[in-house]
Amino acid sequence: MVCSLRKVLARVSGSVLYNASDFKKMMKARLKFRMINSVIQFPFRVTYASNLHIGPNVFIGKNAWFDLSEKCHLYIGEGTHIGRFCQISGGWGDTNTFIRIGKNVLIGERVFITESDHNYEDVTQPIIKQGSVSKGSVTIEDECWIGIGACILPNVTIGKHSVVGANAVVIHDIPPYSVAVGNPAKVVKKYDFKQKKWIRVKSSSSKQ
Ligand SMILES: CC(C)(COP(=O)(O)OP(=O)(O)OC[C@H]1O[C@@H](n2cnc3c(N)ncnc32)[C@H](O)[C@@H]1OP(=O)(O)O)[C@@H](O)C(=O)NCCC(=O)NCCS
Repeated sequence: MVCSLRKVLARVSGSVLYNASDFKKMMKARLKFRMINSVIQFPFRVTYASNLHIGPNVFIGKNAWFDLSEKCHLYIGEGTHIGRFCQISGGWGDTNTFIRIGKNVLIGERVFITESDHNYEDVTQPIIKQGSVSKGSVTIEDECWIGIGACILPNVTIGKHSVVGANAVVIHDIPPYSVAVGNPAKVVKKYDFKQKKWIRVKSSSSKQ
């Protein structure tokens, strides 16, 4: 009964909390998976699961929610860890976009990643009725670490082996081998390959 209710809900809303057996069926039917040795903890919520691409040795913690439309593909690279309660949302505007998370990325709990915003410009209409706009794809390159509670907003690239601090809000690109903290996130450290150490950076702008 519970299972059939889930199926009905899935049909009506395209969105459902899957249990392990539902999820296995869904994977067989719909997913283009290469997820050898990967773990997805339940409950797990996904919309447009056919746009979800998960590599091998990936871990996705409890209560992750991948809120996709047909316009957004989500790629999660080999060896990546996604903490509990993460929300990844994409495809709510008119254009096709992607959210690409590279290999061996560590994403803490409660991280939010999106490529869309709500339209708000028309002051005669409630914002909830104005629809959404895709502002650009998001890329998190290989080996990054995204701290707990961080928000990664549209149209940013976080370069290879960079760190985003706890609760940071990323609105601009973060170069490779950097540590960025705060709201908006600013680079405070960079790796110097000549000196072979992390160097403190003084930055007055969130743009690096
Ligand atoms: C980003 C982080 C890794 C930096 O660590 P670090 O290299 O040791 O950095 P430091 O402690 O030398 O801090 C450098 C500067 O950034 C500031 N800073 C560090 N983390 C910050 C954060 N999350 N938010 C705001 N500012 C932060 C420090 O206050 C310091 O600035 P100051 O010298 O002007 O006071 C760490 O602070 C952090 O946020 N870790 C995330 C922890 C987490 O999410 N764990 C979950 C496990 S997945």
